[in-house]
Amino acid sequence: MVASAVGTLAGPLHGGANEEVLAVLQKIGSVERVPEFVDDCVQNKCRIMGFGHRVYKVKDPRAIILQRLAEELFEEKGYDEYYDIAIALEKVVEERLGQKGIYANVDFYSGLVYRKLGIPNDLFTSVFAIARVAGWLAHWKEQLEINRIFRPTQIYTGPHNCPYIPLHERL
Ligand SMILES: CC(C)(COP(=O)(O)OP(=O)(O)OC[C@H]1O[C@@H](n2cnc3c(N)ncnc32)[C@H](O)[C@@H]1OP(=O)(O)O)[C@@H](O)C(=O)NCCC(=O)NCCS
Repeated sequence: MVASAVGTLAGPLHGGANEEVLAVLQKIGSVERVPEFVDDCVQNKCRIMGFGHRVYKVKDPRAIILQRLAEELFEEKGYDEYYDIAIALEKVVEERLGQKGIYANVDFYSGLVYRKLGIPNDLFTSVFAIARVAGWLAHWKEQLEINRIFRPTQIYTGPHNCPYIPLHERL
């Protein structure tokens, strides 16, 4: 099950997108160049990495959560030009492509966060996958019980607001 989940992350339009996001931010180079970059992409019908989703036609709810955490991280570790360009890029893409249902997805912010944490680009997808293993296995376990595909309408039925218990204090 985990092997097939890892397999579905293959390719630049999927698991590799967060690496591509950083390449895009680097290519843009400055906040001032953002509108020109987006106009160019729209005109030439190219895909802007970190935007769009097969299921979500609104801003990816995971991106909203991660953006908030990214802000906390940048506040602590210091803002940089990548962050500024990303914020400007999201705003312009939303203005130009929002009506087509294209908004930031979770990969847009995950690349920024991983870079800020000092994780090398070619490990981004692996780190993303490691963080998801517990969730994948939970889905698999739930699914075995009723054998139906939930996504994207599944409803979480487990406990809410559980306190975080540090690892060394767990049994
Ligand atoms: C994720 C993705 C593959 C989903 O694609 P999809 O829902 O199948 O969307 P489609 O391929 O049917 O595209 C629908 C339209 O939106 C456009 N579009 C989709 N994603 C776009 C993007 N990131 N930038 C610009 N245009 C985009 C397509 O060109 C197409 O335009 P058209 O109708 O004028 O031909 C796609 O949005 C994408 O390639 N995103 C960039 C890579 C990325 O960030 N991946 C991580 C996903 S979590």
